[in-house]
Amino acid sequence: MTPPRNSNAARDIAYALHPYTDHKAHLQNGPLVISRGKGVRVFDEQGKEYIESVAGLWCASLGFDNERLVQAATDQMRKLPFYHAFTAKSHEPLIDLSEMLIERAPSPMSKVFFANSGSEANDSAIKMIWYMNNAIGRPEKKKIIARLKGYHGITLAAASLTGLPANHKLFDLPIAGFHHVSTPHHYHDALPGESEEDFATRLAEELEQKILAEGPETVAAFWAEPIMGAGGVILPPKGYFPKIQAVLKKYDVLFVADEVICGFWRTGNYWGSQTLDIQPDILVCAKALSASYLPISAVLVSERVFQGIAEGSSSIGTWGHGFTYSGHPVPAAVAIETLKIYDEMDIGGHVKKVGAHMQAQLRARFADHPLVGEVRGTGLIGAIELVADKATKKNFDPAQKVGGRLTKLGEANGVIMRAMTNDSIGFSPPLIISEEEVDEMLNRVAKSLDEIMVQVRRESIAAV
Ligand SMILES: Cc1ncc(COP(=O)(O)O)c(C=O)c1O
Repeated sequence: MTPPRNSNAARDIAYALHPYTDHKAHLQNGPLVISRGKGVRVFDEQGKEYIESVAGLWCASLGFDNERLVQAATDQMRKLPFYHAFTAKSHEPLIDLSEMLIERAPSPMSKVFFANSGSEANDSAIKMIWYMNNAIGRPEKKKIIARLKGYHGITLAAASLTGLPANHKLFDLPIAGFHHVSTPHHYHDALPGESEEDFATRLAEELEQKILAEGPETVAAFWAEPIMGAGGVILPPKGYFPKIQAVLKKYDVLFVADEVICGFWRTGNYWGSQTLDIQPDILVCAKALSASYLPISAVLVSERVFQGIAEGSSSIGTWGHGFTYSGHPVPAAVAIETLKIYDEMDIGGHVKKVGAHMQAQLRARFADHPLVGEVRGTGLIGAIELVADKATKKNFDPAQKVGGRLTKLGEANGVIMRAMTNDSIGFSPPLIISEEEVDEMLNRVAKSLDEIMVQVRRESIAAV
């Protein structure tokens, strides 16, 4: 349907190049224009209401109308709307936020560097590691190992860490020196009869073989999300990270925890690293750091990493890295207020309670559904994976776009959902969601699932 001339939709089609969009389809279908938000809900320009089951992009942790965050930004704008942190300049929001993050870190950390997005933070961490290893006299130790289906962003190096085909195809990525080991997904990838522990052992052995094949003296770091987000909300098998970390320690390979989704209570603990038993050397966070009201990300580094960077910078005279907006005072002030709100409202206690409800409801409603192969998650992050055949765990052909069609039905039913690889539908609502709102959200999901069931039956594309 062609939108009316000069409507927002028509002007969007005419001028906007959207992230993560099929541009030719967009010319036909146009955008969903969201114009305001309240609590866990957003409203389109016709006034239709939607529950945001993914908090936008796993990020609007305090919902869409938090006045305290608006006030924090306004106050900081009036006081000092911009200053930078180059050449040892500083300001109070940057100092306060650095201190707060170091105090809250899951393992001993020494310093904080700020960027504007998860991708930039991951790129910065890669550069820190390369720089450090050059500075301390081991220039050959540069290779990075990440995981298939891991998501770490889209800038050149971050996209090279990412292990999803759509981020590499036609982009000439990954760049040299980036390697990927297996996805730790027991449901699909365990051998017949293999326990979670045995699967975890096998994956740790795979990592060790990879390090030995490349040469331990050439491998610098291992990158992982505690729970894979965009790859489909994949929780590792029991005991996975302790086994992985033992291998990394043996070969002096740094562990970088990408907490861009898992950080700030999403998994039921302050950090996903705590939920999954990880002691990172470097931690990357963003998104819920500022409840996403303004862009800001951070890289926390251990004393050892800091010492390496300090060594290099004093030999050259500067550390030649930093963004104009590194530690920008306005997003930093919003982040400080966000962290205060988390503490004051005991958002952790809330997530534990509502998260347990969401997990129980996901399983009660969908585990036996003929189209759902697996229900997974913890805290306020979860997924249902759609399958064409529950018995054989066979996914739908991606060309059938079953997940995409389900999200369209969801929009009609008033819930914004996210379909990922293998038609996994992710849930990561604002952390402030109530149990009643979880139920309402899942009622709308269930209705949409019943409707897609009618479609796949009609098309005879599923064993249902
Ligand atoms: C785990 C993880 N790392 C990094 C990123 C990239 O963040 P950004 O989109 O802010 O660059 C994302 C984004 O979703 C993410 O989920």
